[in-house]
Amino acid sequence: MRLMSTAAGKPARDPVHHPLFARYYARVSVTAETRLGMADVRDRLLSGLSGRVIEVGAGNGLNFGRYPASVAEVVAIEPERTLRRLATEAAVRAEVPVDVVPGAAEALPVKSEAYDAAVLSLVLCSVRDVRRALAEVRRVLRPGGEVRFFEHGRGGGPAMLFTQRALDRTVWPMLSGGCHLSREPVAGLRAAGFELGPYRRLFLPEDGLRLPTSPCVLGVARKPHEP
Ligand SMILES: C[S@@+](CC[C@H](N)C(=O)[O-])C[C@H]1O[C@@H](n2cnc3c(N)ncnc32)[C@H](O)[C@@H]1O
Repeated sequence: MRLMSTAAGKPARDPVHHPLFARYYARVSVTAETRLGMADVRDRLLSGLSGRVIEVGAGNGLNFGRYPASVAEVVAIEPERTLRRLATEAAVRAEVPVDVVPGAAEALPVKSEAYDAAVLSLVLCSVRDVRRALAEVRRVLRPGGEVRFFEHGRGGGPAMLFTQRALDRTVWPMLSGGCHLSREPVAGLRAAGFELGPYRRLFLPEDGLRLPTSPCVLGVARKPHEP
């Protein structure tokens, strides 16, 4: 963690500090847009969204240019300062208004029930506490609001799961900005009380070598109208 100063002059801590990973991700994520087909996935993730949207763990802002014009406003939370700087640059180029804000998924710095939709892309793998993060997403969504998610996670058969777990216990989180390979985003959303809408499992890349990051899920979940 890195110290930064607050308005009161007291040192505060960045909730996430992965400068090397941030620089690496900023490069490979751009290549993955075309090479891995991520751009198409992002279009499917965001298609049809409208109203006020919160994006959690926005990274370098690769979703920003793909929000449909029906979106009135995006508040993009990003805790890592290098990625947040890049996200702020991407926000200027976006066609919908995007406000990039520091903060962490486990304590979203926004009001309750203020958003029509929340976007989670490749972030539940990296948060410190999935349960708290999803409880926060639920808090900030209006009743009936939707979660659009695109996440990698557990899958690919027993040998792949063995590899994912072994990497999670050893080098992977340290090398990849706190990322975990064997989390189960759909189970996490269900446990947090979301109603699962349509979702589909896919591999990225779709053809060719299967990597521990390849098993993915893309879909929609909804905050129930009744508590
Ligand atoms: C693999 S990157 C994905 C970035 C972006 N969502 C995308 O689709 O390209 C993971 C992101 O999660 C962020 N992150 C890590 N821990 C977080 C937390 N506790 N709360 C919110 N974001 C977090 C990282 O800083 C990084 O931006």
